[in-house]
Amino acid sequence: MIARDGANISLWQGTAEPYIPVRQLDTTRNYDVVIAGGGITGITTALQLQQTGLRCVVLEAHTLCFGTTGGTTAHLNTLLDTPYTTIANNFGKEGASLVAAAVREALNTVKGNIAKHGIDCNFEEATAYLFSQNENQTKELESIRAATIEAGVTASYTDSTPVPVQFEKALEIKNQAKFHPTRYVLAMAKVFEEAGGTIVQNCRVMATDNTDPLEVKTSLGDIKTGWLIYATHIPPGVNLVHLRCAPYRSYAMAVKLADERYPAGLSYDMYDPYHYYRTQLIDGEQFLIAGGEDHKTAHEDNTNAPFNKLESHIRNHFNVKEIAYRWSSQYFEPADGLPYIGHMPGQPGKILVATGFGGNGITYSHVAARLLSSIVLDKESPYIKLFDPNRIKPVAGFTNFVKENVDVAKQLITGFFTKEKIHGLADIAPGEGKIVQHEGQTLALYKDESGQVHTINPRCTHLKCTVNWNISEKTWDCPCHGARYDANGHVLTGPADIDLEKINL
Ligand code: FES
Repeated sequence: MIARDGANISLWQGTAEPYIPVRQLDTTRNYDVVIAGGGITGITTALQLQQTGLRCVVLEAHTLCFGTTGGTTAHLNTLLDTPYTTIANNFGKEGASLVAAAVREALNTVKGNIAKHGIDCNFEEATAYLFSQNENQTKELESIRAATIEAGVTASYTDSTPVPVQFEKALEIKNQAKFHPTRYVLAMAKVFEEAGGTIVQNCRVMATDNTDPLEVKTSLGDIKTGWLIYATHIPPGVNLVHLRCAPYRSYAMAVKLADERYPAGLSYDMYDPYHYYRTQLIDGEQFLIAGGEDHKTAHEDNTNAPFNKLESHIRNHFNVKEIAYRWSSQYFEPADGLPYIGHMPGQPGKILVATGFGGNGITYSHVAARLLSSIVLDKESPYIKLFDPNRIKPVAGFTNFVKENVDVAKQLITGFFTKEKIHGLADIAPGEGKIVQHEGQTLALYKDESGQVHTINPRCTHLKCTVNWNISEKTWDCPCHGARYDANGHVLTGPADIDLEKINL
């Protein structure tokens, strides 16, 4: 089993073997490209660049696929979460056509990699179905159909879908795909190493000096490089992209069915948040994967509730024998509907970033790999301007999440707390955490399995918002830019790169 950023075990995590590193970080060596992040974006980009003759190193703060790659539901789509209606509104019809072309190339790249390297990851082409269930959704579906076709993606109405869910109208989009994401990435990592690339796990990129070559500070020492690429889902530090991306949690289950009626294809309803369904074959065993019940990170007090809602939704429509896996995962919603891929705003020109993939991270990972490679290799690409993180698209209604808890920054943990007082406040079960107010102070308390209470300063070390306890994943999650910490306050995922402060009593 591979490690992940939460207590729940995902299907992909439970059915893949951990990657065993074969090389160490050589701080005496100059690299052409340092890639921070060992998920699908980092590994794919690294391989693409290594194969051009550049010397690349992937630095992963934990272990490969620890973040969202291990928690995705692995849909490979040209039908995107952001409908082509929205993309055309924000980026014009030409922009929508470019996006459709970029994601089509991404799907072809995945397919090509699997064929070229003989990767066994249960890849299968599939048809996608988007269906409406009321009059408003049906109207919206018609607009989506028209904009999707105009963007260059073939879409047509169909009389049936593979899932036993009633619908008014349904759209069918062929030539989508699905696969086992962690097996794909781990196989690609092996190809990368065979091509001479280096992967170092448990090595966090901490900072970069604005020098040429760049001097990258890591938890295992400093290295020099021509380029630095942040493929960390969201970059560390404080940057414009943090204000233009909002973190969300999504919930998924992999289910065994009693009647073996596993649906073909990829199906999506049109609620907000929407539900999705697909089947995955792994080692001869079928699983129905269903997901949804998304919410802004740390904005749900009881994160068991979305799982309960999702389970009852699945049981309403399918004959469930067993919930084999359940897990939640994080994604970043971009302000204007498209990812930010390219030069990091306000940073030296040789620092690149890929973030804001929304719910299409697996597909956009390969758009990013191609686009970032074009930038490093100084090749022209029609996508550079489209996905430029420095673009300004003011979009009404998008919340700047940094404001939500900013008053907390004024708070200081100055009080004196005795062990007795803290234990009195910690009316929680072992293995649980809670935020408490005490004498004007806000504290994060975690009671470990032996009953000992740990007191933590709940101010996120990124920009000081107050973290919230995620009861189902046993993590402290930040509502502002999505940093996550384990129960003891150690950083799991950025943008924070410093642990929560422990308060010793
Ligand atoms: Fe930015 Fe927590 S992630 S304040």
